[in-house]
Amino acid sequence: MKISAYQEDLLSDTERLAVFFEAIANQARGMVYDLGTGSGVLAAKAAELADHVYAVEKNEFSARTALNRLSHFNNVSVLVGDAGRMHFPEKADLIICEMLDTGLIDEDLIPVLNHARPYLKEGGHIIPCEILNGVEPINLHAGHLCYQEGSVKYLEVMGPLNVYNRLNLMKEIDEQVDLSLKLKINSNGEVNGIRLTTFTLLTPDIICGPTPMLNPPLLIPTNTQDVLENQILSLNLKYVMGGGLDTIEARIN
Ligand SMILES: C[S@@+](CC[C@H](N)C(=O)[O-])C[C@H]1O[C@@H](n2cnc3c(N)ncnc32)[C@H](O)[C@@H]1O
Repeated sequence: MKISAYQEDLLSDTERLAVFFEAIANQARGMVYDLGTGSGVLAAKAAELADHVYAVEKNEFSARTALNRLSHFNNVSVLVGDAGRMHFPEKADLIICEMLDTGLIDEDLIPVLNHARPYLKEGGHIIPCEILNGVEPINLHAGHLCYQEGSVKYLEVMGPLNVYNRLNLMKEIDEQVDLSLKLKINSNGEVNGIRLTTFTLLTPDIICGPTPMLNPPLLIPTNTQDVLENQILSLNLKYVMGGGLDTIEARIN
């Protein structure tokens, strides 16, 4: 089976797969959509328990991988296209949508769910069901926006995590984020950036923090401010969920 390096990385993140598999085992039944099916790995798990699975993928190469993986199931249909525009033939008992990224900024999860939610049956479920986003003031030794992978050598955390939103994915969500936040400072020094961290509730009982391929913390440069211990810093933070990283604006004072 041909598979892209990206899909291979997703498949080798066992912590990510374990929480999704557990959530799917708890909630898959009846009609299931797997939106952004990629290699089809989550659709295959759901197919063991559901009557039928619609596995939707917009990338043609990934969709071919999914077709390959899912061809031996007689209860799976692979649909190639944008899940944010698709008309679904039947309503779903469960929508799985692993289009996650830090802050939900650079992936389509929110616009896709805003489109697909009306197709969910009453009493149906969505995996994930809730997202928590938090922000910390940092001193960042890299002058550019980047994801934090492993090492924390190039940053100093200057204050505690402020959980600035909880998104209930069962409800329509405004894609525009425009917030004024207060950040406490723990030590004297310089703040020149923020770190966004995302926590994912797959079901009300299963929560997952960052894993190698699920929401690595996002380091965002801001203007520079000298700060003192116990100072309260103001942060203006704007972005569009699903709009991409270029929509981020962050200013401190
Ligand atoms: C993070 S990957 C997850 C893949 C797979 N579900 C898994 O868990 O390994 C997200 C997938 O969603 C697909 N995708 C992103 N936006 C989409 C959209 N609007 N419609 C359909 N697929 C989309 C991407 O091409 C990618 O394969």
